[in-house]
Amino acid sequence: MNQVTPLPAAADGAYALDIRNLRTTFPGAYGRAAIVDDVSLRLHPGEMLAVVGESGSGKSMSFMSALGLVAPPGRVESGQVLVNGTDLLKLSPQALRLQRGKAISMIFQDPLSGLNPVFTVGQQIVEVLQAHLPLGAAQAKARAIGLLEKVQIPDAARRFDHYPHQFSGGMRQRVLTAMAIALDPQVLIADEPTTALDVTVQAQVLDLIDGLRRDTGMAVVLITHDLGIVARHADRMAVMYAGRLVEQGTVPEVFARPSHPYTVSLLRSVPNLDEPAGQELMSISGTPPLPGSVRQGCAFEARCYLGKGREACRSARPALQAVDGGEHLSACHFSETVTLEARAA
Ligand SMILES: Nc1ncnc2c1ncn2[C@@H]1O[C@H](COP(=O)(O)OP(=O)(O)OP(=O)(O)O)[C@@H](O)[C@H]1O
Ligand SMILES: [Mg+2]
Repeated sequence: MNQVTPLPAAADGAYALDIRNLRTTFPGAYGRAAIVDDVSLRLHPGEMLAVVGESGSGKSMSFMSALGLVAPPGRVESGQVLVNGTDLLKLSPQALRLQRGKAISMIFQDPLSGLNPVFTVGQQIVEVLQAHLPLGAAQAKARAIGLLEKVQIPDAARRFDHYPHQFSGGMRQRVLTAMAIALDPQVLIADEPTTALDVTVQAQVLDLIDGLRRDTGMAVVLITHDLGIVARHADRMAVMYAGRLVEQGTVPEVFARPSHPYTVSLLRSVPNLDEPAGQELMSISGTPPLPGSVRQGCAFEARCYLGKGREACRSARPALQAVDGGEHLSACHFSETVTLEARAA
């Protein structure tokens, strides 16, 4: 049951981030079950990969696992997370803390977890800087103000001494972005960085992240529910369902030729991709299976317009495989049929 997807050999160091066969379990109603199940993802420097999928599909947990941030009773069972040829999962907690923020940095989904209300934003950025760099107080302060300017916070020198509650939601998101990029990370994981923001501010934060990756070659993983944002900002996309990747490819390719019925359903659930942001992907009928409840077959079978009740879909779990022999991957026994249907539509 725990078959692992074979990966093509890669020249080490060619990727900013190379996650291989990551698997994380939690105890649940069906015993210890994988909530991140054989996830492999790679990013080139400067690239933006969008990760989409319904609530609970394992998007956040995949990257919490990659950063060694899964708390018990959760457990990363296997996999590799390669950054500069180092496997983050093999590092001691201390060595991992040094990599976090510097090599790979995350803007967390929960905005409350990001900033401490009892310290000024300046103090908090200075703390991040001084934890990693040998900077004196004045140097660290100057650098922190520079970061606030970089994320376009007006009047940065004065704002340095303000507390989080004195900032609007959008400005707080920029402060979090400043903290996440403080050490010039090679990879930024942005977990729903704009969900709580209005459309204009959303666009500003995303433009800011886009600018940073263009200027510094930082690779970005953008976890989002918003396919409009994916279409406008990402180079590639990965679709998750029930802890697994079910489709992966370039954004134009996946939008034009979705090759997994779940992706087709997601795309159909969005009224108009040209609309500016804010659309949720929640309108597919039925609910995802509980972790561990699908012992064999495809986890999407019960909700699938194409495979529901089909013997192949009920009995064998489809492997993630190349569509058209290229980099476009799909985990569906009938991916060719899906593709043809999408072309015909
Ligand atoms: N502390 C925990 N204990 C048990 N299960 C957990 C825990 N944290 C997460 N899970 C489970 O792991 C699965 C994946 O959760 P995750 O937070 O990665 O989903 P997500 O795709 O990020 O969803 P959302 O879009 O709502 O943020 C879910 O089924 C969730 O219930
Ligand atoms: Mg999440």
